[in-house]
Amino acid sequence: MNLQPLARRLSRLTTDIVVRRPRLWFLLRGLTRFQFGRLAPQWDAIRAGDTAYAPYEAALERVDPPKRALDLGTGTGGAAFAIAHRFPEAEVIGVDLAQQMIAQARGKLTDDLAGRVRFEVADAARLPYGGESFDLVGLSNMIPFFDELERVLAPGGSLIVAFSGGADTPIYVPPERLREQLGRRGFTDFAEFSTDPGTALLARKAEHA
Ligand SMILES: C[S@@+](CC[C@H](N)C(=O)[O-])C[C@H]1O[C@@H](n2cnc3c(N)ncnc32)[C@H](O)[C@@H]1O
Repeated sequence: MNLQPLARRLSRLTTDIVVRRPRLWFLLRGLTRFQFGRLAPQWDAIRAGDTAYAPYEAALERVDPPKRALDLGTGTGGAAFAIAHRFPEAEVIGVDLAQQMIAQARGKLTDDLAGRVRFEVADAARLPYGGESFDLVGLSNMIPFFDELERVLAPGGSLIVAFSGGADTPIYVPPERLREQLGRRGFTDFAEFSTDPGTALLARKAEHA
């Protein structure tokens, strides 16, 4: 039995619920972790040859070089590696809820990157990092937890929210909703990117007044 259509519907439903009611995440966390943990060994094969990170990379082109960057819901690490390759001075952390995804990402770390790129198991709803500790945070096909995004980003820092398949991506949040949620947390300078079918939104956290 092909469970993929069901998994895609579940991802969309989870995203819609959590974006509206982040407090309900605790009910959905276990199932989400299980679902993606199971997919981890095939994730790169599902991704192979496609343009999954094109919108994320389009937004990266418009970002100042960060000292410290965080890729949330990193999966097997593709977007974290994109940051590391684009910004050779940056320290990069990729975070995922599923241990199996992190194991796959760690398996791809090469010696030249191992000193400044690392992968950690953590929940983006409650990150184990201090406030204002990153100057770039990215999400590729990942549910945004807006309060944590605001907390961990330094003033003036950049946020990228990208979806490989645009509105057809199972985990998808429309740009209007992203702008509304981020705008009320002081994000500005919104820019949208389209790489057909991918889309991305870039935003900047306001400097301290
Ligand atoms: C659709 S996959 C995207 C993976 C990768 N970013 C990519 O684009 O290929 C979503 C990933 O987010 C992870 N995830 C979902 N909710 C999370 C959370 N609250 N904290 C950390 N990771 C989470 C899942 O385990 C999964 O690996």
